[in-house]
Amino acid sequence: MEIENGNINYKIGSEIGKGVFGRVFKVGMRLKIGDNFTNNREVAMKVIKKASLNDVTCANLRQEVHVLKTVQSPNIISLIDVFEDEDFVYIITEFCNGGDLSRVLDLNNRLTKKKLIQRILVQVIKGLKALHEQGVIHRDVKAPNILLHFPNSKQKDIRF
Ligand SMILES: Nc1ncnc2c1ncn2[C@@H]1O[C@H](COP(=O)(O)OP(=O)(O)O)[C@@H](O)[C@H]1O
Ligand SMILES: [Mg+2]
Repeated sequence: MEIENGNINYKIGSEIGKGVFGRVFKVGMRLKIGDNFTNNREVAMKVIKKASLNDVTCANLRQEVHVLKTVQSPNIISLIDVFEDEDFVYIITEFCNGGDLSRVLDLNNRLTKKKLIQRILVQVIKGLKALHEQGVIHRDVKAPNILLHFPNSKQKDIRF
């Protein structure tokens, strides 16, 4: 399935997560320039059904998007695009190839890889610091909201 937003084409791939109000997909993103497309970039797309939102959750979603637009930090997920149609809101962010931290904890709940967990926590704290500098408190810090990315994608399957 493909979705267009202006000159951007999104090709929907596999489902990579479930959020409270929607599903998250791995998506191939390409810019259309004239009759040509740029190379494919892997991104994540959260699709939220508008009908599932009430006034409060809708305001929270707007706030989350606003924060993502405002805060630029290597430790906070970057917002790439956000758009909507009649039924859905689409939030496009950079793709994290390591999934979220809950998966790592499930793989090894005794945390024998202390070094890895320490490295992750240092980055989480830097991310929270970047938020605090903009006057934002997160209020939902938990393993499923900590996304992991391994720049050398050969490492993406974490094994213990
Ligand atoms: N950019 C991403 N890269 C990889 N996985 C993601 C990404 N965004 C979300 N996910 C997966 O989808 C799950 C739900 O996304 P999340 O943004 O936390 O939704 P919600 O805000 O509704 O809780 C995450 O726990 C994670 O497993
Ligand atoms: Mg979450």
